[in-house]
Amino acid sequence: MLENKLNIKNSAELAREEERISKQKAIALFEQDMLSDKEAGTLDTLMFIHRILFEDIYDFAGKLRTVNIAKGNFRFAHVMYLEQSLRAVEMMPQSTFDEIVAKYVEMNICHPFREGNGRAARIWLDHIFRVRLKKAVDWSLINKDDYLLAMERSPVRSTEISVLLKGALTDRIDDREVYMKGVDISYYYEGYTAFDINELRQDHSKCLDQ
Ligand SMILES: Nc1ncnc2c1ncn2[C@@H]1O[C@H](COP(=O)(O)OP(=O)(O)O)[C@@H](O)[C@H]1O
Ligand SMILES: [Mg+2]
Repeated sequence: MLENKLNIKNSAELAREEERISKQKAIALFEQDMLSDKEAGTLDTLMFIHRILFEDIYDFAGKLRTVNIAKGNFRFAHVMYLEQSLRAVEMMPQSTFDEIVAKYVEMNICHPFREGNGRAARIWLDHIFRVRLKKAVDWSLINKDDYLLAMERSPVRSTEISVLLKGALTDRIDDREVYMKGVDISYYYEGYTAFDINELRQDHSKCLDQ
């Protein structure tokens, strides 16, 4: 259970509030065009995305982690080498589909934040594809188990994630439904399914009307 700004002590309740608040922020990222002046594929942009999503929930929003973390059998970059690894990843080219996927895989190996890496990095990846290739990721075309298995495999072999992403690229970069559905799916990958993004969108437009 992570320490949080909401003073919630119950992990189910925290997961719910985290989903509600940060999904609203993900809506704002698109509706308020917050990434339009951000450089694609930089650490700064990834930290910006993470900060916007989680700033009302965690002190560590947008900040590099200070502890070592692992998932399954995989240990992400050691804290001692994290900054150095991130600088190297940031320098990786991103002109072609293969280069962008390789960069995403390396960024996942770094796992810069204490929590929220998956959700922030998928928005970061989608932003790179939009800017560099004029494509967006339609995450609804990638099955959850396939995605997670492919990411688990990716430090050793990135073919699986590459095939999944290739099959999910779309030209519909201005279609907000593709983005919004993508956010819902991205949260579903991580087990957050309490709020439908379309209901949160109605709340979002109401608060803009007032
Ligand atoms: N065993 C693994 N090896 C490498 N990467 C993994 C593994 N398991 C999960 N991942 C990646 O880590 C992400 C989850 O990281 P996390 O910080 O928990 O993000 P979130 O909080 O958004 O759930 C997954 O979406 C996946 O990309
Ligand atoms: Mg998580």
